[in-house]
Amino acid sequence: MDAKTFDYLYYKTHGYTDEQIRLESGISEEELELLDTAMRPLLAEIEAERPKAQTIGADFVKYTRYLYADKSDQELGIARPDAIKARSGELVSLPAVGTLNFRDLSLQEAIANRRSLRKYSETSLNPDELSFLLWASSWARDFRSNERMEITLRNVPSAGSRHPIECFVDIRKVNGIKSGLYYYHPIKHCLILQDESDEMRQRIFEGCLRQEMVANSAVNFIFTAIPYRTAWRYGQRGYRYLYLDAGHIGQNLHLAAEVIKSGCCMIGAYLDEGLNAALGIDGIAEFVIYVAALGKK
Ligand SMILES: Cc1cc2nc3c(=O)[nH]c(=O)nc-3n(C[C@H](O)[C@H](O)[C@H](O)COP(=O)(O)O)c2cc1C
Repeated sequence: MDAKTFDYLYYKTHGYTDEQIRLESGISEEELELLDTAMRPLLAEIEAERPKAQTIGADFVKYTRYLYADKSDQELGIARPDAIKARSGELVSLPAVGTLNFRDLSLQEAIANRRSLRKYSETSLNPDELSFLLWASSWARDFRSNERMEITLRNVPSAGSRHPIECFVDIRKVNGIKSGLYYYHPIKHCLILQDESDEMRQRIFEGCLRQEMVANSAVNFIFTAIPYRTAWRYGQRGYRYLYLDAGHIGQNLHLAAEVIKSGCCMIGAYLDEGLNAALGIDGIAEFVIYVAALGKK
């Protein structure tokens, strides 16, 4: 979904008049007419479902209690999902995990120094620093696969070791790696180029509500969740774990950033529609769950 369509839907669902919408969003009269027609079914759906949104938080906590749970797909004997989603594109290798050697800072210092950093220097990261950040947050140290179960084991914990969180990196300033959006493959420890267009960078910036740090960072991490990987085992309760898993990743990223004299800021204020569309994911089977901007101090 583009920014104008999102703005249109947002203002419509929040009671703005047509004149206010044009003023606020720069949508022309003709565009407004077209959107009125094209978005009618979606607007009707949002309006019909809005009452659910009033209690969804409390309902979520309540209905993911064990007392409400049905058997999970795993318990029903339904075939296991893969631990990794296949993605294609140009491969870019990273310095091997075994070569990383960052020992300047103790864990105590890293924890004590950690702050959200929203302004970065112009200095680029080196590939071994990027490799280190990915090692800390997303790398799979082990992969186990058989007919019944497929899991990875990583430097962060995950409920049932389902590891439903995938990592994309929007590289802006890393020496020797061209700018672009990459998928990080946690087993192969390499990047897979998804898109190197300026348009993609702009979409990510706009999707993150134009927060300046996203435009000035060296790298933006975009974490997506594949809920079925966890829900297969835990049913709807698994959705709780997605957010907990993402939190662990965010903290490891923060601490690793300290070690390489960088800082980062986690981002929860983003447009779901904008970022999901930019990544080409449907927002249901896979959706953006967390973002982090990161750069040198
Ligand atoms: C889930 C989550 C979402 C956040 N989203 C944003 C964000 O969108 N923009 C932002 O500037 N900071 C964001 N932050 C950073 C917090 O504002 C920050 O952690 C908080 O102010 C405490 O500051 P500290 O991290 O320096 O201790 C987020 C942090 C978390 C944990």
